[in-house]
Amino acid sequence: MDHFHYKEDELFAEEVALNDIAEKYGTPAFVYSKATLQRHAKAYIDSFKSMNGLVCFSVKALSNISILKILKNSGCGFDIVSGGELHRALLAGADPKTIIFSGVGKSKTEMIAGIENDILSFNVESEQELDQLGVVAAEMKKIAPVAIRFNPNVDAGVHEFTKTGRKFDKFGVSIEAAKDLVKKCNESNSLKLVGLTCHIGSQIMELNGFEEAASQALELLVELDKLNINLDFIDMGGGLGVNYVGEETVQPIELIQCYEKIFSERNERLILEPGRSISANAGVMLTRVEYKKNDFLIADAAMNDLLRPALYQAHHDVWPITKKNDAMQSNVNLVGPICETGDFLAKNIESESSTGDLLAVKTVGAYGFVMSSNYNSRPRAAEIIVDKDKFYLIRKREDYSSLTDLEEGLDAQI
Ligand code: LLP
Repeated sequence: MDHFHYKEDELFAEEVALNDIAEKYGTPAFVYSKATLQRHAKAYIDSFKSMNGLVCFSVKALSNISILKILKNSGCGFDIVSGGELHRALLAGADPKTIIFSGVGKSKTEMIAGIENDILSFNVESEQELDQLGVVAAEMKKIAPVAIRFNPNVDAGVHEFTKTGRKFDKFGVSIEAAKDLVKKCNESNSLKLVGLTCHIGSQIMELNGFEEAASQALELLVELDKLNINLDFIDMGGGLGVNYVGEETVQPIELIQCYEKIFSERNERLILEPGRSISANAGVMLTRVEYKKNDFLIADAAMNDLLRPALYQAHHDVWPITKKNDAMQSNVNLVGPICETGDFLAKNIESESSTGDLLAVKTVGAYGFVMSSNYNSRPRAAEIIVDKDKFYLIRKREDYSSLTDLEEGLDAQI
């Protein structure tokens, strides 16, 4: 459920007309609804009936610090994958003891930052990474908290690029290797084993993959009991899918009930790392139609602003900001100004729009702005948040100097 809706023929975010936002801040622009973010965070947090659940929002999905602050104030911790995301989470006021550091390639510098800030856990994905973390912690005379990411060899049935839980994917280690890493960790003076973790993919529409991974986690926990190895938490990652164009979805409460049932005999805390299911439906991208040519609506937003359609052939609904109730044209392609045929925002849609009209590309609050780039030397879009009947700029539109400010050497003889 989101808070974008029509009042008569005008599209609103909460109590603000999107037209007013476009007028004040221009297009393209990403607009988020605070109430939607809060509602989705609460849908997770309130679903826990046991296991002392902790929801660590996956910062990679939407990383603006004002958004992170809202989610922190709603009770979320954070799942991070880089020093940059740690910096963001800390700026947003996160309690380091609610921060989980995921990812296959943490650098030494990132490990130092995580240890210095006393984060909850490093989710470790290989033996070499574990060794490196041990050395870094020892050099700092500290003890690094570790969760081992196991790979359950589950096919989550999603887009090839967002499957992460098959044995040949780059993520995690096999169950056998996980046991060895657990033992190694336990024998180290500079590492403390605190958890087990896995994440099988993203935009998952059915429970069975999650169930399979959790059952394997349970078996592993029971084996570790026999070795007298106790953990603080089990982290089942993120991955819950959302409704982009009318798909049936699994609700957070169904997922959490499924985990609570599987882990009902356990004492570990349950951590989840949702990204998309908290923020996707909380954002739209405003764009204006610049030109119309045959079946093409040429917008002022492009693949540099929203990469998902070009990269994953993802579908996003497109809604007019003002409904005109004109005749609908079918097979319309909404494309951007970038010089690539792959630069499209939506294909074969029905639309009544024409030159000058404003559109909202829906469900872009996750993996939208965060994946934008300056390709074709296009400044990145503005980000705005709506809170009831007010709206606030939370990231300025970039300008041409943002494009070139970091470049050097114009005066040098190269
Ligand atoms: N935890 C880990 C370790 C992850 O790798 C991810 C996402 C998440 C949590 C959050 O997953 P979510 O709840 O958002 O599904 N750019 C792609 C999605 C990539 C997901 C990467 N990892 C897209 O636009 O569909």
